Amino acid sequence: MHEQLVHTFRERYGSEPTHLARAPGRVNLIGEHIDYAGLPVLPMAIQREVRITFRPRDDRIVLAATTDPDFAPCHFELGPDISPYDDGDWGNYLKAAAQGMAQAYGAERGLDALIESSVPVAAGLSSSSALVIASALAVAGSNDLEPDPIELAELMAEAEQYVGTRGGGMDQAISAGAVAGCAARVEFDPLRLEPVPVPEDWRFVVAHSLVQAHKSGGARAVYNRRRAETEEALARVVVQFSLPAAEVGSYRDLLERVPGSEALAAGEVCLEGDLLKRFRHVVTENERVVRAEVTLRCGSRDGFGMLMNGSHASLADDYEVSIPELDELVGIARDAGAVGARLTGAGMGGCIVALCARENVNEVLAAIQDRFYAARDRLDDLDDHLFVAEPAPGASIEKM
Ligand code: GLA
Repeated sequence: MHEQLVHTFRERYGSEPTHLARAPGRVNLIGEHIDYAGLPVLPMAIQREVRITFRPRDDRIVLAATTDPDFAPCHFELGPDISPYDDGDWGNYLKAAAQGMAQAYGAERGLDALIESSVPVAAGLSSSSALVIASALAVAGSNDLEPDPIELAELMAEAEQYVGTRGGGMDQAISAGAVAGCAARVEFDPLRLEPVPVPEDWRFVVAHSLVQAHKSGGARAVYNRRRAETEEALARVVVQFSLPAAEVGSYRDLLERVPGSEALAAGEVCLEGDLLKRFRHVVTENERVVRAEVTLRCGSRDGFGMLMNGSHASLADDYEVSIPELDELVGIARDAGAVGARLTGAGMGGCIVALCARENVNEVLAAIQDRFYAARDRLDDLDDHLFVAEPAPGASIEKM
């Protein structure tokens, strides 16, 4: 199955790889831009994944190449204080993982690695966190470490901040801890994953807007700004309720003390403009996640779809992270019979996810193909842009 990868490894390094680490990308079904508020989210790992075949070395050097000619090979020394490459360099994700493993476990044995990925890049499907998790597993494998998935996810959520985006923790958690056939409710502080089975006749269609949103590039500024805005909105609402700021540091803390409806009412009084909109998104999205988990567990596809539609509206109008291409894709999917559709991931580009019945999936795929990709004369690489996401297992490592 990995013959080509092994063959390329041999050609490049003149030796046999000893291990294979893999980590999946993910599609977030609902709960967008609220993980960093400490609130639960509902993502699903997908069959697109990062695979790293590697061989431990006797020194601290990490030598890594990818099968994609767009990404130049890199090498650096493993240790607790690795200096980054230029901003936007893919190798920084590897360095993030390596430094995190060195700091947490004293990992000091390097490796020769060859990386292959089927997760579309900058598509909001978490190609970067999949790379970080797979890299961390590879460093673990080289150093005879076997970290627990949850521990690894927490560590890598922190470690990935090395690239400069203050991400939440959702992507690393689902990539490390997913269960096949299931989405998961992910909760934070402390991190917990609760698998939720996906009904067999539900289909999640993923479609790329063809607009890339690089986590380490321009989208980063918007992402970090939204985070700062939600924090400021929270701080003002905490004052409005005369709550002790030291004890209410996150939206979760707030919503454990005050019902969502009262929080929204207070927000209307003490916030305005963008801050009010950001606040409203976070509080209402939290409610949608809670209801979405119930509809998923009882197999209410229409109910789940309605919540996805509500999520998209809120992300577009209140959080302002949609773009016309994402809105168009959402519209096409719904016209073709999807019961719900929304942008997925951080937005500003990337993908939508649409829910439909098994009987409808071909119609939805055909409509998106014709009205979006054919209309733009972009039928090349269609498999990368348009596919049905399957609920995949989390990251793993095996000896070869
Ligand atoms: C990115 C981040 C996640 C999350 C989403 C938005 O994928 O890495 O932590 O914040 O954006 O929901």
